[in-house]
Amino acid sequence: QVKVQAIASMLQSKDTIPPEFVRMEDEQPGATTYRGPAPAVPVIDLADTDRVVAAIADASREWGIFQLVNHGIPAAVIGELQRVGREFFELPQEEKESYAADPRSGSIEGYGTQIQKDPNGKKAWGDYLFHNVWPPSRINHGMWPRQPSSYREANEEYTKYLLGILDKILDSLSLGLGLEGSALKKALGGEEMDMLLKINYYPPCPRPGLALGVVAHSDLSAVTILVPSDVPGLQISKDDRWIDIDYVPGALIIHIGDQIEILSNGKYKSVLHRATVNKEKVRISWPVFCSPPPEMMVGPLPQFVSDQNPAKYKTKKYKDYQYCKLNKLPQ
Ligand code: SIN
Ligand code: FE2
Repeated sequence: QVKVQAIASMLQSKDTIPPEFVRMEDEQPGATTYRGPAPAVPVIDLADTDRVVAAIADASREWGIFQLVNHGIPAAVIGELQRVGREFFELPQEEKESYAADPRSGSIEGYGTQIQKDPNGKKAWGDYLFHNVWPPSRINHGMWPRQPSSYREANEEYTKYLLGILDKILDSLSLGLGLEGSALKKALGGEEMDMLLKINYYPPCPRPGLALGVVAHSDLSAVTILVPSDVPGLQISKDDRWIDIDYVPGALIIHIGDQIEILSNGKYKSVLHRATVNKEKVRISWPVFCSPPPEMMVGPLPQFVSDQNPAKYKTKKYKDYQYCKLNKLPQ
């Protein structure tokens, strides 16, 4: 599998890209991004204890995404996570290939490109690295870069903070549904919840209006906690329009994923989003997907199902939801 980073570095022309990266017109960001005035994604102060529950619940009903400030992660911890991730992608190509993802292994972990199956054979303009960061029993350090040498420490430090933030988000989402604060976390496996880090690496692209870094999707996870770089490019679909997200410096971007939509029987929304790429600059993002363990049964909570309000989703194992999504089968 040839990586986009290698393709980008060998491009002869400064204004064309290989045809397999040119999206169909109805997907091209140049043709489909809404440029008019648009409402801004909610920015929520995690330290504002009087308001945070209502703010997170409202944003998750209305938007399925919000930016979180005053989250308590020191800027230096986030800076280190970004530095070591960037340095990994700056290693020589053959060194990165020693971490190549192996589809036969049954694990998603490793270095790769292009996971979406595309009906028109189109490709996305980006590479990735996936590895688990939690729980300790599911971490395979063989998949964590050994270079730069502080990679492991930086990721462990960041993960420590994330656990507390995930708890606060799930607590607010539970209370916002009139449940006990611990209800959603319990329904998602409690301390067994999985955290999978992805680093998205999008090389500069000569024709950013024609390509996509990641095609439109909602996240399969329960919640995704994402660190952006300073290069914008994340878009969401709001009222049937693709709009840009204006990053707030230092904020984390929180996506509500499919599993929260399912548990709440549709009260909270999993947000449809996509990633665009930049003409001059490398874009990188660091989402952590927080999900139930593979064997966990997930379905609408009984409190939200009645004769008037039937279940909108099936109850099945998380790994079966995963299988259907990866293979584009009906949920
Ligand atoms: C994604 O949703 O997978 C990518 C988001 C981004 O790179 O900003
Ligand atoms: Fe995503």
